[in-house]
Amino acid sequence: MAARIVVLGNINQDFVMAAERMPQPGETVLGSDLRFVPGGKAANQAVTAARLGAQTTLIGRVGSDVFGPVLLENLRREGINTDFIEVDEAHASGAAFITLAPTGENSIISVPGANFAVTPEQVTEAQEAIAEADFALAQFAVPLEAVEQLIEIAGSVGTRVQIDPTPVRDRLPRKFSRIFSTVPNETEAARITGVQITDVASAAAAASALRDMGLQIGVITLGAGGCVIRTEAGGWHVPGYRVTVVDTTGSGDAFAAGFAVALAEGRTPAEAGAFANACGALAATVFGAQPSLPHRDAVEAFMQEQRAPEAAEL
Ligand code: RIB
Repeated sequence: MAARIVVLGNINQDFVMAAERMPQPGETVLGSDLRFVPGGKAANQAVTAARLGAQTTLIGRVGSDVFGPVLLENLRREGINTDFIEVDEAHASGAAFITLAPTGENSIISVPGANFAVTPEQVTEAQEAIAEADFALAQFAVPLEAVEQLIEIAGSVGTRVQIDPTPVRDRLPRKFSRIFSTVPNETEAARITGVQITDVASAAAAASALRDMGLQIGVITLGAGGCVIRTEAGGWHVPGYRVTVVDTTGSGDAFAAGFAVALAEGRTPAEAGAFANACGALAATVFGAQPSLPHRDAVEAFMQEQRAPEAAEL
């Protein structure tokens, strides 16, 4: 049976451009290759889950501007249930202005718009879908009250919650310690746990700190370095895959969705880490957020070709 995933969070129109470098205050730098790409962390996670074969529902909000209907239609084309996406008359659709450096690294200014008008009531309306899901995923690009409602409802119906704590906010949602798993990068993990991450050992300490907070699974993503996972049963460093990086936008989202889908399908945490690493790596090989998110057959072929790196016990 296909995994069932509900995602709560932001839906963005991404404006992506290339630039040799970022401007200094008062300076203009010429960019190139401006492209319009569907994005948003939650939308990216939902699209990844759907492309991996999961039955996927997205809870969110778009504006009634020119972008909203296009973003919605795009999600429907991916086979995502959009019944709980509201069209907001008062706010513009979320937008992200992304500058790509020649290295493939990105700098993002995200303007939340309608995403910050997502309400806890919208989450309540999706109660049935949350109850039927294997995993409910969220990030921090919508009001934390909505994330808190997701934690509350999922907790009451026994659905596992995974949070990608990005962008880092000045507080954690209430009952964060009751969620099942979290998948921060080094910076986010340091903000949450206070552990500065410089290597695998310190990442393992941060993952342990997440467990100490009460979470079942703490995962620290290390980009090309793979991920470190802590569960009740033990800890693993799952090395990453080597790829030629074109654009890292959406890689973290592909990782988050891949990890949840793999766990929902009954893989072990270390196996799920390898699967998620492959999803994230593939997403970095293609330009843009959603155009880069991999389908199931591509992930499986990639893992076969590359031979999944052995996870090391910690
Ligand atoms: O995680 C990548 C996403 O972050 C982009 O698609 C952009 O919309 C920003 O929210």
